[in-house]
Amino acid sequence: MTATADSVFLARSEGISAEGVRDQYADGKAAKVWEIFIGDKNSRTDNYKNFLVDLLRQKGCKRLLDVACGTGVDSIMLLEEGFELVSVDASDKMLKYALKERWNRRKEPAFDNWIIEEANWLTLYDDIQDHIKDGFDAVICLGNSFAHLMDSFGDQRGHKQAITNFQKCLKPGGVLLIDHRNYDNILETGSTPAKSLYYNTSHTADIKTSVLFYCGKPTLVSMDYLIEGNKLSSEFRLSYYPHELKRFTEMLLEIFGAQAKHKLYGDFKDMSLVQNPAFYIHLVERIRS
Ligand SMILES: C[S@@+](CC[C@H](N)C(=O)[O-])C[C@H]1O[C@@H](n2cnc3c(N)ncnc32)[C@H](O)[C@@H]1O
Repeated sequence: MTATADSVFLARSEGISAEGVRDQYADGKAAKVWEIFIGDKNSRTDNYKNFLVDLLRQKGCKRLLDVACGTGVDSIMLLEEGFELVSVDASDKMLKYALKERWNRRKEPAFDNWIIEEANWLTLYDDIQDHIKDGFDAVICLGNSFAHLMDSFGDQRGHKQAITNFQKCLKPGGVLLIDHRNYDNILETGSTPAKSLYYNTSHTADIKTSVLFYCGKPTLVSMDYLIEGNKLSSEFRLSYYPHELKRFTEMLLEIFGAQAKHKLYGDFKDMSLVQNPAFYIHLVERIRS
Protein backbone atom coordinates (compact mmCIF):
# COMPACT_ATOMS: atom_id res chain seq x y z
CA MET A 1 0.00 0.00 0.00
CA THR A 2 1.25 3.47 -0.81
CA ALA A 3 1.40 5.79 2.19
CA THR A 4 0.50 9.35 1.33
CA ALA A 5 1.47 12.58 2.99
CA ASP A 6 -1.92 13.10 4.59
CA SER A 7 -1.83 9.61 6.08
CA VAL A 8 1.44 10.17 7.92
CA PHE A 9 0.51 13.59 9.29
CA LEU A 10 -2.68 14.84 10.99
CA ALA A 11 -3.97 17.10 8.25
CA ARG A 12 -7.01 18.43 10.05
CA SER A 13 -8.14 19.38 13.55
CA GLU A 14 -8.35 16.40 15.90
CA GLY A 15 -11.68 14.62 16.07
CA ILE A 16 -12.60 15.13 12.41
CA SER A 17 -13.42 11.90 10.68
CA ALA A 18 -11.58 11.13 7.45
CA GLU A 19 -14.23 8.85 5.98
CA GLY A 20 -15.43 9.48 2.44
CA VAL A 21 -14.47 12.90 1.10
CA ARG A 22 -11.85 14.32 3.41
CA ASP A 23 -13.92 17.18 4.68
CA GLN A 24 -11.52 19.29 6.74
CA TYR A 25 -14.47 21.49 7.72
CA ALA A 26 -16.53 18.64 9.22
CA ASP A 27 -16.34 19.79 12.87
CA GLY A 28 -17.98 23.09 11.91
CA LYS A 29 -15.26 25.11 13.68
CA ALA A 30 -13.83 26.81 10.62
CA ALA A 31 -17.31 27.24 9.14
CA LYS A 32 -18.46 29.13 12.22
CA VAL A 33 -15.40 31.34 12.21
CA TRP A 34 -15.76 31.99 8.50
CA GLU A 35 -19.13 33.59 9.19
CA ILE A 36 -18.12 35.58 12.24
CA PHE A 37 -14.62 36.73 11.44
CA ILE A 38 -13.80 36.27 7.81
CA GLY A 39 -16.63 35.55 5.50
CA ASP A 40 -19.28 38.13 6.26
CA LYS A 41 -20.80 38.87 2.90
CA ASN A 42 -20.19 42.62 3.17
CA SER A 43 -16.57 42.33 4.15
CA ARG A 44 -14.90 41.45 0.85
CA THR A 45 -12.16 43.95 0.01
CA ASP A 46 -13.02 46.37 -2.81
CA ASN A 47 -9.91 45.22 -4.67
CA TYR A 48 -11.15 41.65 -4.70
CA LYS A 49 -14.78 42.45 -5.48
CA ASN A 50 -13.95 44.88 -8.30
CA PHE A 51 -11.40 42.50 -9.80
CA LEU A 52 -13.82 39.60 -9.87
CA VAL A 53 -16.96 41.45 -10.97
CA ASP A 54 -15.15 43.53 -13.65
CA LEU A 55 -13.37 40.50 -15.07
CA LEU A 56 -16.58 38.44 -15.29
CA ARG A 57 -18.43 41.33 -16.93
CA GLN A 58 -15.61 41.97 -19.42
CA LYS A 59 -15.82 38.33 -20.41
CA GLY A 60 -19.60 38.65 -20.89
CA CYS A 61 -20.35 36.04 -18.19
CA LYS A 62 -23.86 35.59 -16.80
CA ARG A 63 -24.22 31.98 -15.60
CA LEU A 64 -21.59 31.00 -13.08
CA LEU A 65 -20.62 27.82 -11.28
CA ASP A 66 -18.93 28.40 -7.89
CA VAL A 67 -17.28 25.05 -7.17
CA ALA A 68 -16.00 25.94 -3.69
CA CYS A 69 -18.82 28.12 -2.41
CA GLY A 70 -18.22 27.26 1.26
CA THR A 71 -20.55 29.47 3.32
CA GLY A 72 -21.57 31.23 0.10
CA VAL A 73 -19.70 34.53 0.46
CA ASP A 74 -18.57 34.87 -3.16
CA SER A 75 -21.80 33.51 -4.56
CA ILE A 76 -23.90 35.93 -2.50
CA MET A 77 -21.78 38.87 -3.61
CA LEU A 78 -22.14 37.77 -7.25
CA LEU A 79 -25.91 37.21 -6.97
CA GLU A 80 -26.21 40.75 -5.62
CA GLU A 81 -24.26 41.93 -8.68
CA GLY A 82 -26.80 40.31 -11.02
CA PHE A 83 -25.10 37.01 -11.96
CA GLU A 84 -26.91 33.65 -11.95
CA LEU A 85 -25.30 31.06 -9.71
CA VAL A 86 -25.04 27.34 -9.23
CA SER A 87 -22.97 26.89 -6.08
CA VAL A 88 -21.48 23.65 -4.83
CA ASP A 89 -19.22 22.43 -2.07
CA ALA A 90 -18.30 19.09 -0.50
CA SER A 91 -18.83 20.22 3.07
CA ASP A 92 -22.36 20.23 4.44
CA LYS A 93 -21.10 22.17 7.47
CA MET A 94 -20.04 25.03 5.17
CA LEU A 95 -23.10 24.74 2.90
CA LYS A 96 -25.42 25.09 5.88
CA TYR A 97 -24.70 28.84 5.99
CA ALA A 98 -25.31 29.27 2.26
CA LEU A 99 -28.61 27.39 2.52
CA LYS A 100 -29.66 29.54 5.47
CA GLU A 101 -29.00 32.74 3.52
CA ARG A 102 -30.93 31.47 0.52
CA TRP A 103 -33.90 30.73 2.76
CA ASN A 104 -33.72 34.13 4.51
CA ARG A 105 -33.68 35.96 1.17
CA ARG A 106 -36.04 33.67 -0.75
CA LYS A 107 -38.37 36.57 -1.62
CA GLU A 108 -35.63 38.07 -3.83
CA PRO A 109 -35.87 36.34 -7.24
CA ALA A 110 -32.08 35.97 -7.56
CA PHE A 111 -31.97 34.03 -4.27
CA ASP A 112 -35.13 32.07 -5.04
CA ASN A 113 -33.41 30.83 -8.24
CA TRP A 114 -30.05 30.17 -6.58
CA ILE A 115 -29.09 26.50 -6.95
CA ILE A 116 -26.98 25.00 -4.15
CA GLU A 117 -25.78 21.39 -4.25
CA GLU A 118 -23.37 19.18 -2.34
CA ALA A 119 -20.73 17.98 -4.83
CA ASN A 120 -17.15 16.81 -4.93
CA TRP A 121 -14.74 18.06 -7.61
CA LEU A 122 -13.64 14.48 -8.36
CA THR A 123 -17.19 13.56 -9.45
CA LEU A 124 -18.46 17.05 -10.21
CA TYR A 125 -19.56 16.51 -13.80
CA ASP A 126 -21.80 13.60 -12.79
CA ASP A 127 -22.89 15.24 -9.53
CA ILE A 128 -24.40 18.28 -11.23
CA GLN A 129 -25.16 17.02 -14.73
CA ASP A 130 -28.75 18.30 -14.68
CA HIS A 131 -27.57 21.87 -14.06
CA ILE A 132 -24.84 22.09 -16.72
CA LYS A 133 -27.13 22.57 -19.76
CA ASP A 134 -25.01 24.22 -22.53
CA GLY A 135 -22.17 24.85 -20.10
CA PHE A 136 -21.38 27.71 -17.73
CA ASP A 137 -19.90 31.05 -18.79
CA ALA A 138 -17.46 30.76 -15.89
CA VAL A 139 -16.37 28.32 -13.22
CA ILE A 140 -14.81 29.91 -10.14
CA CYS A 141 -12.68 28.12 -7.55
CA LEU A 142 -11.37 30.78 -5.19
CA GLY A 143 -10.10 31.38 -1.67
CA ASN A 144 -7.15 28.94 -1.90
CA SER A 145 -9.73 26.15 -2.04
CA PHE A 146 -8.29 23.93 -4.75
CA ALA A 147 -5.15 23.31 -2.70
CA HIS A 148 -7.31 21.34 -0.23
CA LEU A 149 -7.31 18.45 -2.68
CA MET A 150 -4.36 16.24 -1.79
CA ASP A 151 -2.25 14.29 -4.20
CA SER A 152 -3.34 10.84 -3.00
CA PHE A 153 -1.34 8.82 -5.56
CA GLY A 154 1.76 10.99 -5.95
CA ASP A 155 1.06 11.72 -9.64
CA GLN A 156 -1.53 14.51 -9.35
CA ARG A 157 -4.23 12.38 -10.99
CA GLY A 158 -6.88 13.75 -8.62
CA HIS A 159 -5.90 17.34 -9.43
CA LYS A 160 -6.14 16.59 -13.15
CA GLN A 161 -9.47 14.82 -12.74
CA ALA A 162 -10.92 17.78 -10.86
CA ILE A 163 -9.68 20.35 -13.39
CA THR A 164 -10.99 18.19 -16.24
CA ASN A 165 -14.38 18.25 -14.54
CA PHE A 166 -14.22 22.04 -14.22
CA GLN A 167 -13.37 22.30 -17.93
CA LYS A 168 -16.22 19.98 -18.91
CA CYS A 169 -18.71 22.20 -17.06
CA LEU A 170 -17.74 25.24 -19.18
CA LYS A 171 -19.26 26.16 -22.49
CA PRO A 172 -16.73 26.69 -25.33
CA GLY A 173 -15.19 30.13 -24.73
CA GLY A 174 -16.12 29.95 -21.01
CA VAL A 175 -13.47 30.73 -18.39
CA LEU A 176 -12.09 29.02 -15.31
CA LEU A 177 -10.90 31.36 -12.54
CA ILE A 178 -8.85 29.45 -10.02
CA ASP A 179 -6.42 30.65 -7.38
CA HIS A 180 -3.80 29.37 -4.97
CA ARG A 181 -1.49 30.92 -2.45
CA ASN A 182 2.06 31.63 -3.51
CA TYR A 183 3.37 28.23 -2.38
CA ASP A 184 6.75 28.83 -4.06
CA ASN A 185 7.26 31.58 -1.51
CA ILE A 186 5.77 29.57 1.37
CA LEU A 187 8.15 26.68 0.62
CA GLU A 188 11.10 29.07 0.41
CA THR A 189 10.35 31.02 3.61
CA GLY A 190 8.36 28.47 5.64
CA SER A 191 5.76 31.12 6.48
CA THR A 192 2.36 32.34 5.26
CA PRO A 193 1.31 36.01 5.17
CA ALA A 194 -1.54 36.34 7.70
CA LYS A 195 -3.06 39.53 6.26
CA SER A 196 -6.16 38.71 4.26
CA LEU A 197 -6.40 40.14 0.76
CA TYR A 198 -9.88 38.75 0.29
CA TYR A 199 -11.63 40.02 3.40
CA ASN A 200 -11.66 43.28 5.38
CA THR A 201 -11.33 41.55 8.69
CA SER A 202 -10.78 43.55 11.88
CA HIS A 203 -9.74 40.39 13.70
CA THR A 204 -6.10 39.48 14.08
CA ALA A 205 -5.01 36.22 12.60
CA ASP A 206 -1.82 34.29 12.99
CA ILE A 207 -1.02 31.40 10.69
CA LYS A 208 1.59 28.91 11.88
CA THR A 209 2.89 27.00 8.92
CA SER A 210 4.41 23.51 8.71
CA VAL A 211 5.67 21.87 5.55
CA LEU A 212 5.78 18.10 5.28
CA PHE A 213 8.29 16.56 2.88
CA TYR A 214 7.40 13.06 1.73
CA CYS A 215 9.94 11.05 -0.30
CA GLY A 216 11.98 14.24 -0.70
CA LYS A 217 9.11 16.30 -2.11
CA PRO A 218 7.11 19.02 -0.36
CA THR A 219 3.69 17.34 -0.31
CA LEU A 220 1.60 18.96 2.37
CA VAL A 221 1.44 22.39 4.00
CA SER A 222 -0.51 22.71 7.23
CA MET A 223 -1.71 26.05 8.48
CA ASP A 224 -2.74 26.44 12.09
CA TYR A 225 -4.97 29.49 12.23
CA LEU A 226 -5.42 31.55 15.37
CA ILE A 227 -8.17 34.11 15.01
CA GLU A 228 -8.97 36.51 17.82
CA GLY A 229 -11.31 39.41 18.44
CA ASN A 230 -14.54 40.50 20.16
CA LYS A 231 -13.78 38.28 23.20
CA LEU A 232 -13.81 35.25 20.93
CA SER A 233 -10.89 33.17 19.95
CA SER A 234 -10.70 30.24 17.60
CA GLU A 235 -8.03 27.86 16.44
CA PHE A 236 -8.24 25.39 13.60
CA ARG A 237 -5.95 23.53 11.25
CA LEU A 238 -6.33 23.32 7.50
CA SER A 239 -3.98 21.51 5.15
CA TYR A 240 -3.07 22.11 1.56
CA TYR A 241 -1.16 20.64 -1.35
CA PRO A 242 1.58 23.15 -2.24
CA HIS A 243 0.95 23.98 -5.90
CA GLU A 244 4.06 25.46 -7.46
CA LEU A 245 3.26 28.11 -10.05
CA LYS A 246 5.11 26.57 -13.00
CA ARG A 247 3.66 23.10 -12.51
CA PHE A 248 0.15 24.37 -11.85
CA THR A 249 0.21 26.46 -15.05
CA GLU A 250 1.48 23.47 -17.05
CA MET A 251 -1.28 21.29 -15.63
CA LEU A 252 -3.98 23.81 -16.61
CA LEU A 253 -2.64 23.94 -20.17
CA GLU A 254 -2.32 20.14 -20.37
CA ILE A 255 -6.05 19.95 -19.70
CA PHE A 256 -7.33 23.04 -21.54
CA GLY A 257 -4.91 22.59 -24.47
CA ALA A 258 -1.63 24.35 -25.21
CA GLN A 259 -3.47 26.92 -27.37
CA ALA A 260 -5.92 27.88 -24.64
CA LYS A 261 -5.77 31.53 -23.52
CA HIS A 262 -4.20 31.75 -20.09
CA LYS A 263 -3.61 34.86 -17.99
CA LEU A 264 -2.03 35.09 -14.60
CA TYR A 265 -2.80 37.73 -11.97
CA GLY A 266 -1.09 38.38 -8.65
CA ASP A 267 -3.12 39.68 -5.70
CA PHE A 268 -5.88 40.77 -8.15
CA LYS A 269 -3.53 42.84 -10.26
CA ASP A 270 -1.72 42.45 -13.52
CA MET A 271 1.54 40.57 -12.88
CA SER A 272 3.57 43.57 -14.13
CA LEU A 273 2.30 45.52 -11.11
CA VAL A 274 3.10 43.07 -8.35
CA GLN A 275 6.20 41.34 -7.09
CA ASN A 276 5.99 38.23 -5.01
CA PRO A 277 2.19 38.19 -4.53
CA ALA A 278 0.50 36.30 -1.69
CA PHE A 279 -1.99 34.77 -4.17
CA TYR A 280 -1.89 33.77 -7.80
CA ILE A 281 -5.14 33.84 -9.78
CA HIS A 282 -5.29 31.98 -13.10
CA LEU A 283 -7.78 32.66 -15.84
CA VAL A 284 -7.97 30.00 -18.53
CA GLU A 285 -10.41 29.85 -21.40
CA ARG A 286 -12.02 26.73 -22.85
CA ILE A 287 -11.11 26.54 -26.54
CA ARG A 288 -14.01 27.13 -28.93
CA SER A 289 -14.33 24.09 -31.14
C1 LIG B 1 -11.13 27.85 2.04
S1 LIG B 1 -12.82 27.39 1.82
C2 LIG B 1 -13.26 28.68 0.73
C3 LIG B 1 -14.70 28.92 0.58
C4 LIG B 1 -15.06 30.20 -0.22
N1 LIG B 1 -14.65 30.10 -1.62
C5 LIG B 1 -14.45 31.41 0.43
O1 LIG B 1 -13.55 32.05 -0.14
O2 LIG B 1 -14.88 31.75 1.52
C6 LIG B 1 -12.56 25.96 0.80
C7 LIG B 1 -13.81 25.20 0.44
O3 LIG B 1 -13.46 24.16 -0.50
C8 LIG B 1 -14.27 23.03 -0.21
N2 LIG B 1 -13.67 21.81 -0.78
C9 LIG B 1 -12.48 21.24 -0.43
N3 LIG B 1 -12.28 20.10 -1.13
C10 LIG B 1 -13.37 19.94 -1.95
C11 LIG B 1 -13.73 18.97 -2.90
N4 LIG B 1 -12.96 17.90 -3.16
N5 LIG B 1 -14.92 19.11 -3.56
C12 LIG B 1 -15.72 20.18 -3.29
N6 LIG B 1 -15.42 21.16 -2.38
C13 LIG B 1 -14.26 21.03 -1.71
C14 LIG B 1 -14.32 23.00 1.29
O4 LIG B 1 -15.40 22.22 1.77
C15 LIG B 1 -14.43 24.49 1.64
O5 LIG B 1 -15.76 24.91 1.83
